[in-house]
Amino acid sequence: MAQTVVISGTGLYTPEQKISNEELVESFNSYVAQYNAEHADAIAAGSVQPLQPSSAEFIEKASGIRSRYVLDREGILDPQRMRPRLPTRGNDEPSFMCDMGAAASREALQQACVGVEAVDGIIVACSNMQRPYPAIAVELQAALGVEGWGYDMNVACASAAFGIQAAADAVRNGSARAVLVVSPEICSGHLNFCDRDSHFIFGDAATAVLVSAAEGAPAAGQFEVLGTRLRTVFSNNIRNNRGFLNRSESPGRSEADRLFVQNGRRVFKDVVPMVSELISTHLRDLGIDPHSVRRFYLHQANLAMNEYIARRVLGRDATADDAPVILDEYANTSSAGSVIAFHKHRDDIQADDVVVLSGFGAGYSAGCVVMRKH
Ligand code: COA
Repeated sequence: MAQTVVISGTGLYTPEQKISNEELVESFNSYVAQYNAEHADAIAAGSVQPLQPSSAEFIEKASGIRSRYVLDREGILDPQRMRPRLPTRGNDEPSFMCDMGAAASREALQQACVGVEAVDGIIVACSNMQRPYPAIAVELQAALGVEGWGYDMNVACASAAFGIQAAADAVRNGSARAVLVVSPEICSGHLNFCDRDSHFIFGDAATAVLVSAAEGAPAAGQFEVLGTRLRTVFSNNIRNNRGFLNRSESPGRSEADRLFVQNGRRVFKDVVPMVSELISTHLRDLGIDPHSVRRFYLHQANLAMNEYIARRVLGRDATADDAPVILDEYANTSSAGSVIAFHKHRDDIQADDVVVLSGFGAGYSAGCVVMRKH
């Protein structure tokens, strides 16, 4: 018989270091001044375009972002470097992603009041893995002491929602009693801090979601998974070409090409209707009136984008209570964002309230998880 599936705990790891828009812009503008001075002759001759300065006002107005947490401030803010300084760890040391994921996982287990022996599997679902293999999930499994299995999956910013569906399917089918879905996002490692259009977008964080069979999981605070739905449509408008066939010496490929690149305006236009449609039809098919949904935990990439999506689904403007915002403080933490919103804004959800979690991003990819509080 199919099991009832619940989310019984969530966890969050927030890095200790933080960067405000003003600090980020000051360092970016020093880099620009230095670049333009170094290329002054070529700029005067018209063969090189001067770089334009960034502005903290633009960033907050265009995105809603005010600050971000990062693993390493110093390297990012050094105009001579413009990327985090994360020392290489040896094969006998835990990876950064394993450490971040373990911290978030321990909190999720603690919230659910269960030990590692209750868990059968780990899915590390995030937008970039720090190595191809062995899977980060298998390393995390060993670090936590979980028996069973682990695997990695990558569906960019929608990864957590895709991971929750895979975990819910496994639990529902009886192939696992509980699965941890872990999203350690080191977005500062694949963000181009020299690119004015995107240098402000991302931050680092890790989340964990414990997906369990309702039977056997402590009852308090559970959210029953009423349904999950996924959608992907191919697009090049958010892309990262780093890969094992694209090495630094590969002809025609620059370092910038192996970092995050997007056409932000196009993404906005394409993804808003795609996600609104996904959430609306999913709710309709579950027989749930969108107006009865207590809260929407949307992917945290852009404030205006979330306002548009909520307006399309609800037919009215959403309040911060309808669709909480964490991107002002965290920026876009890729797949972790919607889970951070859920983690931080669910204590006031009452029994029988329905909530929606939705992640979306590169692919394009979008996922919707509809839950009811027990
Ligand atoms: N500082 C100051 N001005 C800047 C700037 C910066 N850092 N970056 C761009 N600008 C300027 C541009 O040059 C442009 O000037 P122009 O009008 O004179 O040509 C103007 O601001 C608008 O640029 P645009 O790129 O069109 O901004 P936008 O309003 O689309 O906002 C994003 C940019 C990225 C914040 C927005 O498009 C977005 O968030 N899109 C969704 C992206 C998304 O969700 N991606 C998913 C990632 S996983």
